[in-house]
Amino acid sequence: MEANNCFSTNKILELSQFIETNYGIKMPASKKVMLESRLRRRMRQVGYTSIAEYLDFVFSSEGKRHELGNMVDAITTNKTYFFREPKHFDILVAKVIPQIISSGFTPSPLRVWSSACSSGEEPYSIAMMLGELAEDNHRLKFNILASDLCTKVLKKACRAVYNEEEIKDIPLYYRKKYLLKSKESALGLVQVAEHLRNMITFRRINLMADDFGVKKRMHVIFCRNVLIYFQKDQQERLILKFGRQLEPGGFLFIGHSESLVGMNVPFCQVLPTVYQKISEF
Ligand SMILES: C[S@@+](CC[C@H](N)C(=O)[O-])C[C@H]1O[C@@H](n2cnc3c(N)ncnc32)[C@H](O)[C@@H]1O
Repeated sequence: MEANNCFSTNKILELSQFIETNYGIKMPASKKVMLESRLRRRMRQVGYTSIAEYLDFVFSSEGKRHELGNMVDAITTNKTYFFREPKHFDILVAKVIPQIISSGFTPSPLRVWSSACSSGEEPYSIAMMLGELAEDNHRLKFNILASDLCTKVLKKACRAVYNEEEIKDIPLYYRKKYLLKSKESALGLVQVAEHLRNMITFRRINLMADDFGVKKRMHVIFCRNVLIYFQKDQQERLILKFGRQLEPGGFLFIGHSESLVGMNVPFCQVLPTVYQKISEF
């Protein structure tokens, strides 16, 4: 490796600290190799040969405007797939939505937030399930807000175009009903049907922000497989903010390897990884 490619311990510490403070993502020493390789890939795309020089650019006033977001995109982990942790989707339609309706919810629409939506597989899975419910009950309307920190995945989510491998976890019934051959169908690509896409608004939201900038309270929030990347105190702060963002009695879904155990937050567990807001905080 060339001398100017040496990624000094100080630089990586500074960068790790910056990422953790601003985006919540833990960057312990064990992730140094991964961080470095992701930065290298991005650095080459923009024509730099040294990480130190690339980082100097990122934190220059021009870089902050034009490159910082791309660097953040490069370091996020966006793994996702349709109907991931499938029980959650059954619980949503069989238990959570009926409970919200029976607790006196009348105003339409019912609001669901997929708060770390990655490339859209999670909110589209939710939309497919809710689309079915809405067919049975025409008065039921849904709005889905889907957000992520990473703009690259959000672009893909908005296009809603997926390949054969990516759609393999979608039950055949939904595939036939909600996926259409895309303009690039020769490449085996499909696109989510327009009426389903119209249920979803995509936005870039940093979950570490003091204020999400979301005016309306939600009935359901999905925050799955992202808490694991955050420090415990940041996780607790985020769950408290979700508490304020939820309607009374609203529900929170977290990932199967995540937990609210030990947190002083206004939620009770209704099922493993499914929580209900119990009070204002
Ligand atoms: C592993 S994916 C999980 C996607 C989906 N929820 C699922 O369970 O399949 C984690 C997502 O969290 C996003 N993320 C990480 N830090 C974030 C932050 N501070 N604010 C918003 N999104 C963040 C990443 O960009 C990534 O797309």
